[in-house]
Formats: sequence, structure tokens, C-alpha cells
Amino acid sequence: MELLDGSKVSQEMLFDVESGVGALQVAGVQPKLAVILVGQDPASLSYIKQKQKACTFTGIEWIQHDFEESVTTEELIATVERLNEDESVHGILVQLPLPAHVYTPDVIKAVTPKKDVDGFEAYNLGKMFLSKEFEHLVPCTPKGVIKLLDYYDIDVTGKDVVVVGHSNVVGKPLAVMLMNRGATVTVCHKETKDLTSHTVNADILCVAVGKRNLITEEMVKEGAVVVDIGINRTESGKLVGDVDFENVSKKASFITPVPGGVGPMTVACLMENTLFAAQRFHDDSIVAGKHVKKIY
Ligand code: GUN
Repeated sequence: MELLDGSKVSQEMLFDVESGVGALQVAGVQPKLAVILVGQDPASLSYIKQKQKACTFTGIEWIQHDFEESVTTEELIATVERLNEDESVHGILVQLPLPAHVYTPDVIKAVTPKKDVDGFEAYNLGKMFLSKEFEHLVPCTPKGVIKLLDYYDIDVTGKDVVVVGHSNVVGKPLAVMLMNRGATVTVCHKETKDLTSHTVNADILCVAVGKRNLITEEMVKEGAVVVDIGINRTESGKLVGDVDFENVSKKASFITPVPGGVGPMTVACLMENTLFAAQRFHDDSIVAGKHVKKIY
């Protein structure tokens, strides 16, 4: 069994982003990420801290807009629209979840596609349906999974891949990206009748549910690649995934640890998306020495 070491791979990605940021700075563009945080949810604060640290490392400028829980949908949309217009900002991230009284789809929809570094907005999500070549700003967690598999030369072409979890931010876009690469994809979710009947056939098993020990040894094929995207806390506060690592790792050919697997890859992919957004801004603005507006 070999570990899919997200800590190591993400660090290499961050070095690459840092040099890309340096090149843009030389060209007169300072990549900048604007983050909107509502309330003080401990998980959101922890994610934001990791993202800010990665920005500091890579040289991406960070600005944060904090709001009270009582903020309205209209106030958030107005802030997003201001950031859309701000030419010094290349990426906009609205930390989720938002409070129940805020209509999240409208806030996400307000982010202009070219600054949508989370890849949550419908234009970017729709475009990735076309083919791999149209994957530009894609959701960071599925992108991190693909990058991790690529790093370890795990070719998904023709493989039976089972994705457990069909969220808009992980399961669904991951399934599309895997199909774009020639995998035979089965997506399972909470309505799936017999989960094990699917998972036991998986050459590659990706799990993003948020349920500790959901995947046990009997559910996994000998030699399978297991990617654990779950994040759960034990009673003692320890971070664990959705897979019974101790026992499943005895059967797997490759497996991600939690922590140190997909988590740091998500953050590195956010940095890469921000760099891509800033690079495209720069490329677009210098065509033939004239500022050119493009359709994203
Ligand atoms: N909340 C949990 N994960 C994420 C993420 O990747 N992006 C945003 N915006 N919010 C999150």
C-alpha cells in the first residue's frame, strides 16, 4: 500500500503557484483573492486560516470581508458586485455555508465567472461538461483529487470508478472530470439501495459523504485505489475521514490519509485557480496592446 500524500503534492503545487505569482508581479499584476466570511463558524474559520496561510506563502494578496450572521442576501450580493468591478481583485470566494436566511444560490450567481475561483458558479460548472479542455475554474476539491491521481500516475481511463456522495461541490463535478478522462463512473448517494454492491467493484473509490467509517474493509476490492474526501471530527476532536483507514489500507494499493490527503490539495487548487484567474486577466488586458474584453 502506498499513501497518496496530499501534503507533499500540495506543497509542490504551492511552489509552482509562487513562481507563477512572481512572474505576474514582474509583469505588473499582483494576484489578489477577496474572501467573504459570514459569522464565526469554527470549521469555516479553520478553512479560511489555511487558505490565508497559502496566500501568504504563494504571494497572493488576501482581503477579507467579515459580516455578522444577520447580514442579508442583498448586502452580500452588493459586496460581490463591488468586488466584480474592482480591477485589483482576481478571485472572489464566498465561504460556505451561509446562514439559513441567506439565499446562497443568488450570492454564488452574483460572482462573475472570471473571478469564480471556487468554481461554484453555473457558467464554470456548465463549461466543464464539454470536455477536459474546457475545465478552467473548476471546484477545488475534485480538482485536487484529479491532481493527486495524476501525480501518482494513476490513469483513470477505462477504470471503474465509484464516487460516493453527489454534492454540487465535490461528487457531481468529480464525476464529470472523471468522465472527461475516460473513466466509467458510478455515482452513489444516500438513496443508493446497496452501496456495497457498487463499491466492491471499484478500481478507484472516491468517498465524499461526511460519515466516519462509512467505508469498511468488506466494501473494498483488493488492490483498489481509495480516495477519502470526508472530513469528520471524533469525540476527542481528532480529524478523520469516511474510510476505516486502519483496515481498508490493508487491501488498498493506494489510499489517502486524513488529514494530509485531499484537504491540502483543495487549498493548493484554490491558489492555482486564483493564479489562473489573474493570468487570464493579464493575458486579456494586453492583447495587441489594447484592453480586450472576453466572454468567459
Ligand atoms: N466550505 C467548505 N468548503 C468550502 C470551499 O471549498 N469553498 C467555500 N467557498 N466554502 C467552503
